[in-house]
Amino acid sequence: MGMLKRSVFLAAMLSLTPPALADDAQLTQDARAQTKAFAQALQKTLKQGIQSSGPDAAIHLCNTEAPAIAAGLSQNGWQLARTSTKIRNPDNVADAWEQQTLAEFAQRLQAGEDPMGIEVTTIADGEFRYMKAIPTAPLCLTCHGSQLAPSVTAKLDELYPADQARGFNVGDLRGAFTLRKTLEQ
Ligand code: HEC
Repeated sequence: MGMLKRSVFLAAMLSLTPPALADDAQLTQDARAQTKAFAQALQKTLKQGIQSSGPDAAIHLCNTEAPAIAAGLSQNGWQLARTSTKIRNPDNVADAWEQQTLAEFAQRLQAGEDPMGIEVTTIADGEFRYMKAIPTAPLCLTCHGSQLAPSVTAKLDELYPADQARGFNVGDLRGAFTLRKTLEQ
């Protein structure tokens, strides 16, 4: 092995070595970075979809792309998803800890806290978990508001017969990013 090759190999080994103990601060930083990448990819897809083909087609894009984006970013032991108390995709259903955290987030948002700072972490059952609030912005009302265009309603009814993610107002808690990582024992 040449010198360069060896040092590249060593660097790769070092960066892949798991920490002996859960390093909370590092995991939180990683979770924030992952969430940012996830949010940016979702937003880009949504904007492109709406601009190029309108909300009906954008719904179709969200339907296929949102889970694909989450799956694509779920690497190195991380699992990325979104959840809510009122879900559109049944795969996004909140577990007990997520439900409790969503209720806390809604209270914090109502109390006037800046949504950008609403996040929590926990370590339980050998897993690091992270959640970050997702507020409702004006753009979201096209597909999550209370007055949807008839074509939007028709498309949603077709793809999500059990859709609960309607009737939101700007500033409401729409849901949360939810990330988990299994810790090395
Ligand atoms: C073009 C329509 C459309 C717009 C606009 C839209 N969404 Fe969605 N949203 C969807 C669809 C479709 C799903 C289901 C995706 C899936 O199947 O995973 C979804 C799912 C979600 C979820 C996952 C939880 C759930 O209900 O299943 C969250 C959180 C969410 N949207 C937040 C937002 C936010 C915040 C905005 C505004 C920035 C927004 N959405 C704008 C169509 C839209």
